Amino acid sequence: MDWIEKERVLIPQVYKRQKVVFERGEGCYLFDVNGKKYLDLVSGIACVSIGYSHPEFVQKVYEQLKKLVHVSNLFYTIPQIELAEKLRMITGMDRFFFCNSGTEAIEASLKFARKASGKKNFVAFKNAFHGRTMGALSVTYKEKFKKPFEPLLRDVEFANYNDVADLEKKVDSRTCAVILELIQGEAGVFPAEKDFVKAIFELKEKHGFLVIFDEVQTGFGRTGKWFAKEHYGFQPDIMAMAKAMGSGFPIGCCAIKEEIAQKLERGDHGSTFGGNPLACTASLATIEIIEKYRLVENAEKVGNYFMKRLSELFEEVRGKGLMIGVKASNADKIVEKALDFGLVLNATSEENLRIVPPLVISEKEVEIAIEKLEAVLKALNLSC
Ligand SMILES: Cc1ncc(COP(=O)(O)O)c(C=O)c1O
Repeated sequence: MDWIEKERVLIPQVYKRQKVVFERGEGCYLFDVNGKKYLDLVSGIACVSIGYSHPEFVQKVYEQLKKLVHVSNLFYTIPQIELAEKLRMITGMDRFFFCNSGTEAIEASLKFARKASGKKNFVAFKNAFHGRTMGALSVTYKEKFKKPFEPLLRDVEFANYNDVADLEKKVDSRTCAVILELIQGEAGVFPAEKDFVKAIFELKEKHGFLVIFDEVQTGFGRTGKWFAKEHYGFQPDIMAMAKAMGSGFPIGCCAIKEEIAQKLERGDHGSTFGGNPLACTASLATIEIIEKYRLVENAEKVGNYFMKRLSELFEEVRGKGLMIGVKASNADKIVEKALDFGLVLNATSEENLRIVPPLVISEKEVEIAIEKLEAVLKALNLSC
């Protein structure tokens, strides 16, 4: 069966896909339809944090699947409330609106910020990525993603990332919120500087705007802390989460402070599927497994080791924990060739690899990845 040819006529051609059809996964490994095994350094774009087919995850989701999948938010369900309770402990935020994806978490964040502040203007950052729906796209930087869909939200300005002087010029008392990724992910893994984040909060004091952290890609242990905000020591007013929240099961969340929640009324926002019992069970199982197997600590330890080993091959390696960016010319070619060697990689641009493996990866598997990477570079006659 030529699945790739079938896809070409059945699916809108909006994705650039690698030429492989995956069928199943186990831990850090994926298997294609021919049974070939691949070491995965992508995790479905920083999602499958506990690894593929984790037996405890499968069991919990299966039990909930048999009991109740969905009833909508017209009713109460226990997993949603339990998940909110758990998130309160790990995020320090107060209330949790559930949705199904990162972009939806951002939509909720922007709407809640406007409602709570009574102001309109957003300040986002150059090279930011916050999603593809109209609101999230408005605070996303890349012109190519936005141009065909204009007009988007007015009242959005972009400041240079890590540039306090530029930000100072762009915020004032009319600013509703400043939205940022603490580590820009889609841009290629670029962390915010500590002083920059500190300055954002000083400017917040002065002008009274809200701060929205987009932890969609950085959340749930990826950076070696539960959330990237812990590297900086600041708590936002609003925080968006998704991706690894359900370890691949679609779920997102907009977490807010109590003051914001107090400004919201019935009907301000909603979602049919958001917070359904199955998705919330998947998220609860994910969090429990991360805690039980100390995967946050593993991300820090193995991440440091991985970065050290990568630095021996490439001249620029950035990131925190297991969210790693590598400057590599011909990144697209490396990604393509890596499949031949049973290695799954991702390039965010022609010059940049993004390495975001499942958080269960071990140092031994890092060694296998490095060996395969060396072989790929050799096959391509590339020395980095
Ligand atoms: C930081 C960040 N925010 C938002 C999104 C959008 O998430 P989703 O693709 O689940 O809508 C992404 C996706 O890559 C992201 O990296």
